[in-house]
Amino acid sequence: MEITQNITEDIYYVGASDKRLGLFENLFPIPSGVSYNSYLIMDDKTCLLDTVDASVSRQFFSNIESILKGRTLDYLVVHHMEPDHAAMIEDLLLRYPNVTIVLTDKAATFLKQANPALSCITQVVKEGDTLSLGKHTLSFLMAPMVHWPEVMMSYEMKNKILFSADAFGTFGSLDGNIFASELYLDETFYSEARRYYSNIVGKYGRQVQAVLHKAAQIEIQYLCPLHGPIWNGEFQTLLEKYNLWSSYQAEVKGVLICYGSMYGNTENAALYLANELAKLKIKNIKIYDVSQTDVSYLISDTFKYTNIVLMAPNYNGGIYPKMNTYLDDMLRLSVSNRKFYIVENGTWAPVIAKKIEEYILKYPGSSLPFESIKMKSRGTEETKIQLAEMAKCIGESL
Ligand code: FEO
Repeated sequence: MEITQNITEDIYYVGASDKRLGLFENLFPIPSGVSYNSYLIMDDKTCLLDTVDASVSRQFFSNIESILKGRTLDYLVVHHMEPDHAAMIEDLLLRYPNVTIVLTDKAATFLKQANPALSCITQVVKEGDTLSLGKHTLSFLMAPMVHWPEVMMSYEMKNKILFSADAFGTFGSLDGNIFASELYLDETFYSEARRYYSNIVGKYGRQVQAVLHKAAQIEIQYLCPLHGPIWNGEFQTLLEKYNLWSSYQAEVKGVLICYGSMYGNTENAALYLANELAKLKIKNIKIYDVSQTDVSYLISDTFKYTNIVLMAPNYNGGIYPKMNTYLDDMLRLSVSNRKFYIVENGTWAPVIAKKIEEYILKYPGSSLPFESIKMKSRGTEETKIQLAEMAKCIGESL
């Protein structure tokens, strides 16, 4: 059965959600699934905007056929060639061999790489080019590195719709309601939006800022991303969050404590520090055990909080592996402008504080306002004093 909805009178949602997939990109846990959005414009010419991931292809083709009702497909606009949106191009061509594929020059290269034997009609577009479908005209905006180099967006002029590719997307399936205005946009929703943004697009803040600048120049009634709900009406909150995330500014004044602990001593220190912070009336404290938490959640909250405490044991003369993964990810995703604090634990030769400090020096605009604390196994009276001083230093910075 087809599962479609109107966005406007003659623009339709024809995407689908996958609620079975465990790991997006085979990396990121998605306990609430993910949607692969695709849109179909019915006009003098018919135009499909992106395909979907192979996992939901059956639903997708059923949706398209139900809207086309025997008409052919004239255009396919490819905003992004990553396979979660472009996987079905070859299959689409089997059904609609005369479709013209509208894409950027770089996307044409990627299309050939992904489908070497493909024979198709293509129309390469660049910034400001337009495509008239009849009553609807699409204008193309280049958005390189949001999230791949070939990405573009398109602006539908009649209804003022920005088809924004990966930008403004989120994890989570669409469960009937496809419009954000129909959802309860609570902290959980925005946490997943941040986790999607920070882990997928987080590295490319400068390029996202460029897109936000372009978006500010045009009137937008609908934001139609490739994942998550369609934003109609009120999306100022989302834009404000995107502006913070892409400029690497924290959303919340607060303290994120990420610790690794093999036998509980470093965990005890993390809890002690949190308690000292709370006694100072510091709000918004969040603690994660790096061994029990997927790193994508750590990254997301790193984009959220101003102050980050890293606490970990030495391991074979190096950084505890789970902490090391988190540090590497922060570097990869261009984490910037945070205050960091370090507590290391080493039974006989604590040496990793310096190694962690070297990471932090590579995070632009970040600082180490407090001398790193060294523990040897269990916390001592001296450790208590040091943690209390660290809490005081954090409090003064908030
Ligand atoms: Fe949803 Fe970059 O693909």
